[in-house]
Amino acid sequence: MISSLNKKLVDLNIVVLTGAGISAESGIKTFRESNGLWNNHPMETLASMQGFENNPKLVHEFYNLRREQLKIVKPNEGHFALAELEKKCKSFTLITQNVDDLHERAGSKNLIHMHGELRRIKHVVSGESKYFEDSVCENEWNVYRPDIVWFGENVKGFEDISSALSLCDLFLSIGTSSIVYPAAGLVNEAKKAGALCIEFNLEQTALSPIYHDHFYGKASQTVSEFVSGLSRL
Ligand code: OAD
Repeated sequence: MISSLNKKLVDLNIVVLTGAGISAESGIKTFRESNGLWNNHPMETLASMQGFENNPKLVHEFYNLRREQLKIVKPNEGHFALAELEKKCKSFTLITQNVDDLHERAGSKNLIHMHGELRRIKHVVSGESKYFEDSVCENEWNVYRPDIVWFGENVKGFEDISSALSLCDLFLSIGTSSIVYPAAGLVNEAKKAGALCIEFNLEQTALSPIYHDHFYGKASQTVSEFVSGLSRL
């Protein structure tokens, strides 16, 4: 399938979309698996402005805990393989729905956190965002909110995402259930640009039929093997 690209790796424009599945093997729960983040917590209470206004304590405690977890988790082979791939092709844009910082810690550079970042908080009035590693304490519960894109809010970096997709030769979707839009729809833009579209997941998703090819299994393994194969192009 890859041979249909008719280009060398050094000439390829690559766009990658990642979701919670790529970080699962680092020990971060996905959202929709049984016992996942949204199974244990109703998402409207933790991922909407309304939920935050109703109970800022609950929301900050949830994101404080997840921010704390970043201090103990580490990138896995899937994250490292993507960072290596970035060094070898013509252009590379990594779009992640993940709010963890494992891609940057693995060495990825051209990275768009379309759903925001756990290690950033935003002033509720000015909207000013700042890097933040700790826990938001009680006297700031109403002053700052996590800089996470909640339901009903605009994703980040959409212009850069669109321009990367318009030039895309190869589009990889890794570890996402392809349920949440606009992320799930990016494959359609890549296809319009003529890209070869490949999905990596443990199992089929609702959008699997759209993809030209699929690699089923753990992303740490499938992505590393795929990147090694590409490096021989
Ligand atoms: P989901 O929890 O919806 O889906 C995770 C996907 O990863 C599933 O399709 C799993 O089969 C797959 N998966 C799990 N472990 C894997 C592994 N080791 N290797 C490969 N695939 C694996 O997570 P997302 O699709 O990322 O938004 O969810 C999208 C958005 O929904 C999130 O960014 C979040 C949530 O609401 C916000 O919080 C704004």
